[in-house]
Amino acid sequence: MENERDHDTISSSLASLSKQLAGTKLEGSADIPIVDLSISDEDFLVYEVVKASEEWGIFQVVNHGIPEELMRQLQVVGKQFFDLPEAEKEMVAKEGDFEGYKRKYLGGINHWDEHLFHRLSPPSMINYKYWPKNPPQYREVTEEYTKHMKRLTEKILGWLSEGLGLPREALTQSIGGDTAEYVLRVNCYPPNQDSGLVLGAAAHSDMGAITLLIPNEVPGLQASKDEQWFDLNYINSAVVVIIADQLMRMTNGRFKNVFHRAKTDKERLRISWPVFVAPRADMSVGPLPELTGDENPPKFETLIYNDYIDQKLKGWALEDLPVY
Ligand code: SIN
Ligand code: FE2
Repeated sequence: MENERDHDTISSSLASLSKQLAGTKLEGSADIPIVDLSISDEDFLVYEVVKASEEWGIFQVVNHGIPEELMRQLQVVGKQFFDLPEAEKEMVAKEGDFEGYKRKYLGGINHWDEHLFHRLSPPSMINYKYWPKNPPQYREVTEEYTKHMKRLTEKILGWLSEGLGLPREALTQSIGGDTAEYVLRVNCYPPNQDSGLVLGAAAHSDMGAITLLIPNEVPGLQASKDEQWFDLNYINSAVVVIIADQLMRMTNGRFKNVFHRAKTDKERLRISWPVFVAPRADMSVGPLPELTGDENPPKFETLIYNDYIDQKLKGWALEDLPVY
């Protein structure tokens, strides 16, 4: 499978990947790296985030500067939204595009895909009609959280750029700087007695550049490394950083686009808040010229990001996708 992935398997379907990974051994305790951003030694931070991106493609950051109270508020307004009567949630229902609220029965006992999806940035791309009006604090909290998401993303991309020997702003610029897209998906996974078997989100890699996710306190996120699944240990107030396809492609395979999936819990409602950071749709994305050469020829085709999306999604109904 590694060989296949080295050759940019955008055509190989997520379904077959899920199948390949489905039977792998599950490790009980995770060693998914944790990076403490309060460390003042920048060189050490650069080393840590690069190592985690090369070996795992996923890590958690703590002491990241996002106020705990704001994270709690984001979690409260998300939960309040999902607790509303169905008719009220339908006020921001999807209308064909990926943005909006959607609830879909997937089979089994109480197996639902329920989520809210909308852009956060750039401001010119925001469709507020998909942002819930209820609870009333939703917009203010989400806008404040967006500022922190942008600041933290650019910080992490800065360290990753430096670790690659590039100017600090290189990776941020490669996805469009201020025109890069930030999209929030709030996933709601009801308790499921069939869990263990039932997945909330099937195995996939994220399509964009990088994803910053916070879960509620219910565990469920798993990451694949060396063909084994690892549980992500929940750390209160940590932010989970997921390296997505475009960072893997831009670094010519040096960073891993981690395969991950989410289980449902038997008793408790699980909610997660991934923010997908992706290149502007019309940008060409491929291995960065500074990172390739005779010794290290490009392993991936340079593609307009929109075309990459089309190729990856070929054969998938947009509404069935676990991934942005
Ligand atoms: C999660 O719910 O923790 C992850 C969801 C996803 O990656 O799609
Ligand atoms: Fe994901």
